[in-house]
Amino acid sequence: MPLPPSIHVSTHPLVQHKLTKLRDRQTSSANFRRLLREIGLLLGYDATRDLPLVPTRIETPLAPMDAPLLEGKKLVVVPILRAGLGLAEGIVDLVPLARMGHVGLYRDPKTLAAVEYYFRMPNDIGDREVIVCDPMLATAHSAIAAVDRLKESGARRIKFICVLGAEQGALTFAEAHPDVPVFAAAIDATLNDHGYIVPGLGDAGDRLFGTR
Ligand code: PRP
Ligand code: URA
Repeated sequence: MPLPPSIHVSTHPLVQHKLTKLRDRQTSSANFRRLLREIGLLLGYDATRDLPLVPTRIETPLAPMDAPLLEGKKLVVVPILRAGLGLAEGIVDLVPLARMGHVGLYRDPKTLAAVEYYFRMPNDIGDREVIVCDPMLATAHSAIAAVDRLKESGARRIKFICVLGAEQGALTFAEAHPDVPVFAAAIDATLNDHGYIVPGLGDAGDRLFGTR
C-alpha cells in the first residue's frame, strides 16, 4: 500500500545496516543502545534538513563575513518514555543545545490504549520546533496521544522520529496528524495480536534497558 506523503522512510545504507543489527535477537543491550543512538542521529539529520538559517556577521581569523546560523529559538526534543530516551540521545548529539521535554506513556497490554503518567515541557514550546521520538510506531496510540497533548500545550511545529512503524500505525498516525511529518528507518507489514510489529525488533524498551 502506498504511504501518505507525510511518512518519510530513509533509504540510507548506514540506517538500513544499523536497523538490521538492531532487529537481530543476538544483539546485546549495550549494542542495542549504541545502535539506537546512532540511528537517532542519522534520522535526526534528515528531519532537520529544513531548519531555517539566518545570515550572521562573524569574523574568521582572516576576514569578516556573513555566515549562516540556525534562526530562532532552539528546538525541543521530546522522547516518549521509556524507549524514546535511547533515540533522543542521538538527536541531542546532533543538536546539543536542544531543550528536552518528556512524555511518559505505557500501553495497556489488554486494550493497547496509551496511558499517560508524565508530561513536562519547556513553557515556551509554541515558539520552538518540536521533535518527538519513540523507536516504535505500532498501533500509533502512543504517538497520537503524545502529539495530541503537545498540540494542547501550544506546540505548533512538530515532527516525529521512529525507527520502525507498522503500516497500519503509519496510516493511522498520518490520518490523525497529517501536519506532522514522520521520519522512519522502515515500515513493516504486520502487527500481531498483541500489537507487536512483525518482523519488527521485539520490545524496544526491554531490549534497550535489559528488563524482562
Ligand atoms: C512501546 C514503544 C511505544 C509504544 C508503541 O512502549 O516504545 O511507546 O509501545 O506502541 P503503540 O504505537 O501501539 O502505542 P511501551 O508501552 O512498551 O512502554 P515502554 O517504552 O515503557 O517499555
Ligand atoms: N512496542 C514495542 O516495543 N515493540 C513493538 O513491536 C510494538 C510496541
